[in-house]
Amino acid sequence: MKGNIDFVVVGMGDLKGKKIVVTGGAGFIGFHLCKRLSGLTSNLTIYDNLSAGKMENVKDVGKARFVKGDILSLKKLFSVEKADLIYHLAAQVVVPYSMENPLIDFETNAKGTLQVLEKARKDDAKLVFASSAAVYGNPTQLPTTEDYGFHPVSCYGLSKVVGEEYCAMYKDQYGLDVTIVRFANVYGLRCHGVIHDFLDKIAIDPSKLEIIGTGLQSRDFVNISDVVDALLTVGSDESTSGKTYNIGFGTTTKIIDLAKLMLKILNLQDKTSITTTGVSWQGDITTIWFDISKTRKELNWNPKISLEDSIKEVIADRNLR
Ligand SMILES: NC(=O)c1ccc[n+]([C@@H]2O[C@H](COP(=O)([O-])OP(=O)(O)OC[C@H]3O[C@@H](n4cnc5c(N)ncnc54)[C@H](O)[C@@H]3O)[C@@H](O)[C@H]2O)c1
Repeated sequence: MKGNIDFVVVGMGDLKGKKIVVTGGAGFIGFHLCKRLSGLTSNLTIYDNLSAGKMENVKDVGKARFVKGDILSLKKLFSVEKADLIYHLAAQVVVPYSMENPLIDFETNAKGTLQVLEKARKDDAKLVFASSAAVYGNPTQLPTTEDYGFHPVSCYGLSKVVGEEYCAMYKDQYGLDVTIVRFANVYGLRCHGVIHDFLDKIAIDPSKLEIIGTGLQSRDFVNISDVVDALLTVGSDESTSGKTYNIGFGTTTKIIDLAKLMLKILNLQDKTSITTTGVSWQGDITTIWFDISKTRKELNWNPKISLEDSIKEVIADRNLR
């Protein structure tokens, strides 16, 4: 159900006219963020190597400059016009890939983040770094608060930890204005991940739906629109400097229950049989469940879009495409 409180993005006006760079802006979260930012500033640059991002996303943002570039090229990064604010979203985001290719994952997520920090230092820009629930690993504290500590169980999680540590170093030693946001499972139109995987599988064969793992692993699903609200506030609110925020919904849903909910929405509950592989991929996390009280309080932020509403929207969108 949609909540009653309409969230007002704090200080959004402060982004007006700012020179903003979004690394990874052609990807899922980047696309939605840039779409909103393009209505606030005419000086928006999407910086993306298109390894996973799509030109279609860039085109649909409309009012933005696009630089096809790699965060691993310092020369190219430095050639981008001086920024006031950098959202650093570019990353290698696939956990199993990180376990098979730890060096590539490290290069992109750890060294790449360091290079973007150098760009921010050169420009004296604020930097917002996209981190992940993967830094917590399999937390014994549920829901998990920001101060739980680093216990990654995947190379992806570890490379995000390294990125966060460099952010902290740049804040402490160079006085850089840095804010870290840790995302739970972000979903919505054009997303990747479990919801789309399920829809892909059902489209191929509606008689069965296979879940990788036991189905008992659970996730904190947060809608992209709520996430963008938080990102806009973080980018415009000076008091967030040096802070870290959990961005989730504050609830957890078992993957098997997600599958059942999706089949119910699709009216396939009596036609599709759910199976599980039992074994998940290396580095998979059992439970993601964020404590979001700090984010709620300090950002005056309330995620309001329910999983059921959003799944319906994703399904409707896929049927149209
Ligand atoms: N989607 C989620 O649920 C989620 C959860 C936790 C954290 N995050 C983090 O949020 C950020 C955005 O995630 P997303 O879901 O939009 O992923 P995405 O894969 O859709 O977007 C990442 C973008 O980065 C670009 N990119 C990758 N390597 C690059 C490089 N070397 N140089 C330049 N561009 C490069 C890709 O082309 C892509 O457009 C990532 O940092 C990710 O780790 C996402």
